[in-house]
Amino acid sequence: MSRSAPALRPYLPDDAPLLAAIFSASIMDLTGDDYSEAQQEAWAMAADDEAAFGKKLAGQLTLIATLQGAPVGFASLKGADLIDMLYVHPSAVGQGVGGALCDALEKIASARGTKTLKVDASDTALEFFRKRGYVAQQRNSVTINDEWLANTTMQKQLDGVATPGGHA
Ligand code: ACO
Repeated sequence: MSRSAPALRPYLPDDAPLLAAIFSASIMDLTGDDYSEAQQEAWAMAADDEAAFGKKLAGQLTLIATLQGAPVGFASLKGADLIDMLYVHPSAVGQGVGGALCDALEKIASARGTKTLKVDASDTALEFFRKRGYVAQQRNSVTINDEWLANTTMQKQLDGVATPGGHA
């Protein structure tokens, strides 16, 4: 497996099926310590309607990470200040793919004048975001396809000012 840095590119409409597959594999393979199988399945089902999933990706600022030309992860910025999606294929975790995607979204948001970036982090991604300087603000329960899933709203000051603390 390649250890080279991931390359990034914008989302294109033809990417939807592949990103739906990455989304589903990422959830089903990587979140099992934090969510039940029923919760994982409900979450992963959000990409079953590929047309709707593609429309959502196209409506946000979506970046794709590739390793040796092959897409291995993606992330999206919703509006000016919310990281809405961040998913890395199980075969590519731990190689800096998620970090590279977040670096890019943070830079883009900052360049657009956003001071505070937010994310509703899955329990699986909580530590990833904490390491990047995101601070937990509140716990949430959201319903996805009739299952309740917990996440944590976190935020990071992009201008280097410390975020007032909260607790997960
Ligand atoms: N727990 C603790 N630390 C982690 C985790 C984790 N689950 N994942 C990554 N890290 C750490 C890495 O060790 C690394 O630390 P280092 O810089 O000290 O070496 C750092 O975070 C960066 O790691 P990357 O290799 O860049 O992250 P990766 O490519 O593995 O992607 C991600 C992390 C996105 C959380 C991936 O595990 C994933 O897709 N998880 C499942 C899907 C998910 O829950 N996505 C988030 C949903 S919430 C949302 O979308 C907003």
